[in-house]
Amino acid sequence: MANASPARYSTGAAEEMSSHRPVLLAEALAGLTIRPGGIYVDGTFGRGGHSGAILEALNGTGALHALDRDPDAGRHAWKAFAKVPNFHFHARNFAELAALADEIGITGRIDGLLLDLGVSSPQFDEAQRGFSFSHDGPLDMRMDNANGESAAEWLARAKESEIADVLFHFGEERNSRRIAKKIVDTRGEAPLKTTAQLAALIASVPGPRSFKIHPATRSFQAIRIHINGELSALESVLSAATGLLASGGRLAVISFHSLEDRIVKRFIRDSAKVADPGYGMKPDLVSTVPALKPVSRHFPSDAESDENPRARSAVLRIAERIN
Ligand SMILES: C[S@@+](CC[C@H](N)C(=O)[O-])C[C@H]1O[C@@H](n2cnc3c(N)ncnc32)[C@H](O)[C@@H]1O
Repeated sequence: MANASPARYSTGAAEEMSSHRPVLLAEALAGLTIRPGGIYVDGTFGRGGHSGAILEALNGTGALHALDRDPDAGRHAWKAFAKVPNFHFHARNFAELAALADEIGITGRIDGLLLDLGVSSPQFDEAQRGFSFSHDGPLDMRMDNANGESAAEWLARAKESEIADVLFHFGEERNSRRIAKKIVDTRGEAPLKTTAQLAALIASVPGPRSFKIHPATRSFQAIRIHINGELSALESVLSAATGLLASGGRLAVISFHSLEDRIVKRFIRDSAKVADPGYGMKPDLVSTVPALKPVSRHFPSDAESDENPRARSAVLRIAERIN
């Protein structure tokens, strides 16, 4: 399955999906143990790299439900897989997966749930989306750019202490207080409207620096995580995930930074504890509480990281529902 080609589904599919290279594709597919006739959920469709490979493995059987909150991803899903009967796209936040699963009748029946977290390459690369300090554009950063507050709107109204906390907690930015002060001082003179403006402002703030990354890297990550509520969405979907999976169903999560991976690691560890005899739950109750067991952890090979620098920081964790 490592070489799954989406082209058989529609003539435009390969081009639609070429702008984002799926990370840890073979490992995620093997971890999900796709079986014909199964029900699978891709919570992060993006450009459909993983979805295409899951559909290929399903070979026309079962169902794949894909979600993405980004309207552009929805448009690509439509173009790539409109004619595939077992593919269903839902323009939803994966934080709402429990509600969606109830609506479509798949609660407790999902054989595999994949989450490939963060932003896709096209989101980063399209200046208009405002995610990147390398491409000047409006300071937006919303994955769902039809709803909610943009980064520019938040930076125009947030308190200095709130900005500093976001930069520190979601970006592990050691210079958070000085950067927040500079933002508040600057916006008093003129609003911050573009990614280049914000990147230059951050670069101008003196303080501790890593020479390996652009001075704005951590702040941009932090603001993006905050604007999209990324960590709370992850916590919501994980808290529902075990009960959504069928017995033996697999969870596969690809994280790109330690904040995400820590949440996933702890969730799997805590969920596995329930079934541990040392945990103290009465044996006759253990089978009634859904639990996971950790299965495996994967990192990209050197070859994948060389070919796709975005893969470098990725880690994939696989867990299985055991009861
Ligand atoms: C890394 S990309 C996924 C790439 C995809 N696996 C592929 O191979 O093309 C992450 C995608 O998940 C979406 N996303 C992130 N958080 C989300 C959430 N809470 N709900 C729905 N979609 C989300 C983003 O909009 C983005 O399109």
